[in-house]
Amino acid sequence: MTSDILIIGGGVIGLATAIELKLRGAKVTAFGRNRKAAAATAAAGMLAPSAERIANTAMLELCNRSLYLYPDWTRKLEEITGLDTGYWACGILAPVYQGQGEKKTRRQGDEFDNSLPSSPSSPSSRHWLDKQAIHQYQTGLSEEVIGGWWYSDDGQVDNRALFQTLLNAAENLGVEIQEGIAVKGIIQQQGEVKGLQTDAGTLRASKYVLATGAWSNELFPLPVRPVKGQMLSVKVPFNSELSLSRVLYGEDIYIVPRRDGRIIIGATCEEVGFTPGNTPVGIQNLLQAAIRLYPQLQNYPIEEFWWGFRPTTPDKLPILGDSCCKNLIFATGHHRNGILLAPITAKLVADIVLEETEEKSDSLLNHFHYSRFHNSTPKSTAMFTSSVNFSNGNISSESLSNNSIIDSPIEDLIQDTKLDNKLNIAGKEFTSRLMTGTGKYRNITEMQQSVEKSGCQIVTVAVRRVQTNAPGHEGLAEALDWNKIWMLPNTAGCKTAEEAIRVARLGREMAKILGQEENNFVKLEVIPDAKYLLPDPIGTLQAAEQLVKEGFAVLPYINADPMLAKRLEEAGCATVMPLAAPIGSGQGLQTTANIKIIIENANIPVVVDAGIGAPSEAAQAMEMGADALLINSAIALAKNPPAMARAMSMAAVAGRLAYLAGRMPMKDYASASSPLTGTVS
Ligand code: GLY
Repeated sequence: MTSDILIIGGGVIGLATAIELKLRGAKVTAFGRNRKAAAATAAAGMLAPSAERIANTAMLELCNRSLYLYPDWTRKLEEITGLDTGYWACGILAPVYQGQGEKKTRRQGDEFDNSLPSSPSSPSSRHWLDKQAIHQYQTGLSEEVIGGWWYSDDGQVDNRALFQTLLNAAENLGVEIQEGIAVKGIIQQQGEVKGLQTDAGTLRASKYVLATGAWSNELFPLPVRPVKGQMLSVKVPFNSELSLSRVLYGEDIYIVPRRDGRIIIGATCEEVGFTPGNTPVGIQNLLQAAIRLYPQLQNYPIEEFWWGFRPTTPDKLPILGDSCCKNLIFATGHHRNGILLAPITAKLVADIVLEETEEKSDSLLNHFHYSRFHNSTPKSTAMFTSSVNFSNGNISSESLSNNSIIDSPIEDLIQDTKLDNKLNIAGKEFTSRLMTGTGKYRNITEMQQSVEKSGCQIVTVAVRRVQTNAPGHEGLAEALDWNKIWMLPNTAGCKTAEEAIRVARLGREMAKILGQEENNFVKLEVIPDAKYLLPDPIGTLQAAEQLVKEGFAVLPYINADPMLAKRLEEAGCATVMPLAAPIGSGQGLQTTANIKIIIENANIPVVVDAGIGAPSEAAQAMEMGADALLINSAIALAKNPPAMARAMSMAAVAGRLAYLAGRMPMKDYASASSPLTGTVS
């Protein structure tokens, strides 16, 4: 492959960008996965910055600039291909029902105008129509409609026709389109993408664009999630006249008439991940709302049902512009506005890729930079001491804050172990031998306080849950001070070796984004079953072998299996992490005999992970000679997590000290503490 630029993503954004780059003279390859559920084909094609009531000023400017580009952009594509994109500056009518409060729906700056709307080309794009005007202007509306807004500059494009036009244009222009090749990973080193790992081998170029929409975080740890939309279409019967020649935009419903007599009805907004399919309730809601707004629809024959996934970010704004790798550019997360934003995205991304950036574009792009999700000031650990709240436990906050054990620096405890070497994992040294996690806490403050009280220097983070902002994981990446804490990304939730490898790569990127450029650690979890949460030894070994090859420091979570531990050590793992008992069970040390064998034979640190429920068990594991512990549930689920975190840290230190000190031998019979020699009988 000889391209200068590889575009990952063959949807509307990827193709539009590829074409723009090609027209400017670059050699471009685009990778598409031909996903029917991608927004490109699933959308309705509304071009609706006004009707969508976009409040964010930068976003509104971006949308308006894109809308302005639309006529020329589609004309050019049509010239290249001889196809019709269905671009139609038809305007959008947003009817309002009684009780919806038409006054309330007006925004500052909206014009009030009782006359018939101006033409779509009119520069003033918003007009209020009263009941008489709206019914006169658009026949067939529900009698319940008491007025509405006319957005004359909004319009539509037939997104499927547009997609086909983009595909043809790309082909005609000589863009290489790879539909059959799956991109598996982005290989990067020292802040630069070195290639794409694909099922056809490694492919390289000088620049890369990530435009994989709802699937973006499979390849890069960006907070893009799928928001499902269900849709359907009806067809105006052969002998009826289409009396609808503009988009209707109601509450939770839009009705988009196409020139060919189809009417698109959309769309639900569902946070169901990538759950496929149309549902009865989804379609029922759409039909009810559509028939209420435009009753004559009820007799039109249904043509098709479908669904798709919008690529949505936490602030619902796209992620555009450069990334933490100097030759990777992001063009994703367009949420409800991908079709609308295609031309401006293509232009701005091409400007960056070819380094033709105008100052104006630059400043607009600042609002869409990925770093907005990672820029919150890291919480300094100093904040924890002043805000610890122990009131949910049995210990009062006063008694604890007056108590030097809980508030004394952890170093005071650790200095007792200074006869000890530091814990060394893959060449990195740690003073603390207790690792913690971030899951299961009642709230993020408790988690922060517990991490601080534990004195731990390594915190494991579930990559998938952070990326998807799973409940309890919102803002988690920003909640800890990663200047002080070493991130241990984990592959929790991965059922197969392949998934774990992919998530491990994302974890590495996540650590980099958060400033840990050289962090290559991964806690490898391959767990196929949800009931026992027991790791798959074969999948773990396979994934470990691959990840070691890719330069990861692999910390595999395993059952307490001495043979497997040895094989993982031979494969080059940085530690082994045998379980004491099933994850989150708090059953304590159930696998002591095997853990002892693992410790005896290991030349790498043995970290006892999972199952420890109480400090006594933590201490016991350390007394046995474990090098470190990973404890999450026992802390997070304690009545008072920060206090339990402190107890666990003390137990880890006590156990380690006891191990180093050497336990006295056990005897069968009593042996008096005071010597008997010399006593008077
Ligand atoms: N653009 C409309 C939607 O995403 O439903």
